[in-house]
Amino acid sequence: SKYRIAVIVGSLRKDSFNRQLANALARMGPPDFEFHQPRIDDLPLYNQDDDGHQAAPVLRLKGEIAASQGVLFVTAEYNRSIPGVLKNAIDNASRPYGQSAWAGKPAGVIGASIGSIGTAMAQQHLRNVLAYLDMPTLGQPEAFIHAKDGLFNADGSIGDGSKAFLQGWMNQFVAWVKRHSA
Ligand code: FNR
Repeated sequence: SKYRIAVIVGSLRKDSFNRQLANALARMGPPDFEFHQPRIDDLPLYNQDDDGHQAAPVLRLKGEIAASQGVLFVTAEYNRSIPGVLKNAIDNASRPYGQSAWAGKPAGVIGASIGSIGTAMAQQHLRNVLAYLDMPTLGQPEAFIHAKDGLFNADGSIGDGSKAFLQGWMNQFVAWVKRHSA
C-alpha cells in the first residue's frame, strides 16, 4: 500500500514560493508515495473553549493527518519565525489534550524565503514545536531554500541549480518516513 504524506504549507499566498516548492517536491517522490496538501486557510483561530466541540475544518485536518504516514512542513518565515497560520493549524490539530493528531508522525521540515537565510530561523522554531509534539523529525540534510530566479522551471519543476540537492533531500525524507511509520 502507498505511503500518504500530508504536506502542510506555511503560507496562504496564492503564488507562494513554498506552495510551489511543495508541489515540485511532490513530483520527486517515489511511486509508492502520494502527497496531499490539507487546507489550513479555513481553520478557526484556536480557542481552548472549543476543545469539546471542534469545528468541522479542524476535525477534517485531524482526519487527514491521522490518515497519513508522515507530515512534510514547507514553511515561509515571517519575522524570524513560522507564520501564524501554520502555528494555528498545529495548535488546532494538537488538541484536545491527549488527542493530538501529530503524535508519532514522522516529519520533515523545509522552507523557502527571499532572504538569504532561507527560513532557517522559522525552521528551528518549528523543530522546537515538533519535538514537543513527539514527531520524529528528519535532522539531516537541512534545506534552507533561497527563492531566487531559476529556482523553478517554467513547468514548476526544480531548476538545475537545486534539483540534485532537493532530490537527495527527498530521498532521505522518504527513508525517514519508512523507518518511523508504524
Ligand atoms: C516576510 N519575509 C521574510 N523573509 C525572511 O527570510 N525572513 C523573515 O523573517 C521574513 N519576514 C516576513 C514577514 C512578513 C509578515 C512577510 C509578509 C514576509 C519575506 C518572505 O520570505 C516572502 O514574503 C516569501 O515570499 C514568503 O513565502 P511565500 O509566501 O512565497 O511562500
